[in-house]
Amino acid sequence: MSVGRSVLPPDHQSPHVSRPVGQRSDTCGRHPQGRCDVIARTQRIGLGTVQWGLDYGVTNSNGRTPADEVGRILSRARERSIDTLDTAALYGEAEAILGAHDLDGFNVITKTPRFGHTPITQQDAEALCSTLERSLERLRVESVSGLLVHHADNLISTGGEHLLDALSTLKAGGKVRRIGVSVYTAAQVDSILARFTPDLVQLPVNVFDQRLITDGTLSRLARLGVEIHARSAYLQGLLLTPASQTPDYFSPWRSKLDAWQKACADMGTPPQLAALAFVCDHPEVSRCLIGVQNLAQFESCLCGLDDVRSFDASAFASNDPAFLDPSRWKLA
Ligand SMILES: NC(=O)c1ccc[n+]([C@@H]2O[C@H](COP(=O)([O-])OP(=O)(O)OC[C@H]3O[C@@H](n4cnc5c(N)ncnc54)[C@H](OP(=O)(O)O)[C@@H]3O)[C@@H](O)[C@H]2O)c1
Repeated sequence: MSVGRSVLPPDHQSPHVSRPVGQRSDTCGRHPQGRCDVIARTQRIGLGTVQWGLDYGVTNSNGRTPADEVGRILSRARERSIDTLDTAALYGEAEAILGAHDLDGFNVITKTPRFGHTPITQQDAEALCSTLERSLERLRVESVSGLLVHHADNLISTGGEHLLDALSTLKAGGKVRRIGVSVYTAAQVDSILARFTPDLVQLPVNVFDQRLITDGTLSRLARLGVEIHARSAYLQGLLLTPASQTPDYFSPWRSKLDAWQKACADMGTPPQLAALAFVCDHPEVSRCLIGVQNLAQFESCLCGLDDVRSFDASAFASNDPAFLDPSRWKLA
């Protein structure tokens, strides 16, 4: 590990300092004569890294992103004041690929291994700590901005307190600045909050998956001061794919996917911008994580994002886990 490459970050800006829905990045409406204290949508984007380390994604036919392309994406992120990188020990080579680049100034968040058994034991807690050491080595940093429990059920199940103790110890020792958890459901959030108040929670939000917005989970976390990172704004790229080009599995939802594409066309807004604007315009969301395979995709997510007009997405909301949860997709 190289000395002095800590990515201990400046404090994130408050998730609550954000633009009210429907307003542009430079004015808030209450201060129409000048700039006000709002954060542009682009600065609230973070980069996911799973497709940099694994062949992954229902719409990804190109395989892993080459390391030099990752470098170009990171340079562009730095230019646009995008400061958050989300990775995981389980994302194949992603940590090592990040570690081959200059990470100064980025807030790197990584995750714990998956424990496929219960009860969780003290040995598992030790494995969590040694996996973090390995992550720090691969990332070539001395500390990370965040460590999330990758599988929330590990923390919730019997013995989960061993993992929580390990997280707290790592935080106290300065190897990890914030501790938290990656979740899929409100029930997981309820169980986690019964155990502790995380610094950071990552959860899915997109125009089709508004479940954690409408059931009050986002507001509840925000009220507790938990920083919220939203993932899956593109639902693995489905929101960007013409319905007719989606795998047969998605045929029950093709009319919904068509309606989304048509609404974007009617607004004159590319779906990759509309999908991000929807997530970013929720003031509880501090960072909206996106996965990009290459620089061109990244540019297409940023160019014009701050100028997109907000819109009502309530008609697109679904409660169907077979559509919203990629782990349930049955693809040939
Ligand atoms: N055409 C364009 O212009 C364009 C632009 C931008 C993005 N895209 C495409 O959009 C896709 C990204 O969509 P998104 O940002 O909404 O992210 P996403 O793929 O919906 O969500 C990313 C998260 O999905 C989880 N995940 C689910 N199944 C997984 C698996 N089999 N392996 C690993 N991780 C899995 C991971 O979280 P866990 O770690 O919790 O499992 C990962 O962090 C990419 O394929 C990208 O190429 C296209």
